[in-house]
Amino acid sequence: MRKLFHISDLHFGLEDRTALGWFEDIVRRERPAAVLITGDLTMRARSREFTAACDWIEALDVPVTVEVGNHDLPYFNPLARFFWPYARIRRIERLVERELDFPGLAVVPLKTTARAQWRLDWSKGRVSRRALSKTLAAIDALPRGTTILITAHHPLVEAGTRGQALTRGGEAALAALAARGVAAVLTGHVHDAFDLMKQTPAGPIRMIGAGTLSQRIRSTPPSFNQLAIAGGVIDVRVRNLEAVSTPDMQIRAVPPDALPPRSPGEPVAPIGAVPPADPPVH
Ligand SMILES: [Fe+2]
Ligand SMILES: [Fe+2]
Repeated sequence: MRKLFHISDLHFGLEDRTALGWFEDIVRRERPAAVLITGDLTMRARSREFTAACDWIEALDVPVTVEVGNHDLPYFNPLARFFWPYARIRRIERLVERELDFPGLAVVPLKTTARAQWRLDWSKGRVSRRALSKTLAAIDALPRGTTILITAHHPLVEAGTRGQALTRGGEAALAALAARGVAAVLTGHVHDAFDLMKQTPAGPIRMIGAGTLSQRIRSTPPSFNQLAIAGGVIDVRVRNLEAVSTPDMQIRAVPPDALPPRSPGEPVAPIGAVPPADPPVH
């Protein structure tokens, strides 16, 4: 049996120190074979946020693979966004979009984060032809019979969570992965955990989403997914941070400076602003 931990949406800048400390302790005690991080390391891709994220990831001291989320692309500097999108993550570059191989098991990355796209909301997912080809080529190079897990930031199709990914090219990508016998696609972005089977024209495929370890919780407390894999069977357990008062921690909107409220109960949205009915937390 091989144990992997799947975490997502750490959002340094609005990180939850209690949740991160809780996870670190579990890693230290249980020593998983790897930690899979499906994106949104930071809140606004600021240098200090990446420094904190990199410090934390390096201290885990187990094999790690990292996906880049929509929050990890330079937000305030369009030049950097287009030309040097990963410059601030250079310290952990070797971990980014990295394949992990174990006997009989492989974790293969799929990029779903776009620097820009032909729609107003660039935070949504997109699977480019190039990104999919790269992932399919990596799968085709694996020995027959390997249990294959894909790591991506955005769910490839909607998973029934409050947050949406609306990934362009996601449906076709999911079918292509199902055709190759991929065991599961692991994602983040929506901040709530899920585990479901999706039908595609090429057959069924499992979709597994991890919650968040940040303060940006949505419907559930901070959590991560534990995957126990044996003989091609994947057992998923969502492990929640206990004793957390969910409504008190939930935020309705993210302030422009992306700082947490100064005192408990203080509204995050500007005074007088009407919080949206379904805030775009992703
Ligand atoms: Fe995201
Ligand atoms: Fe996120």
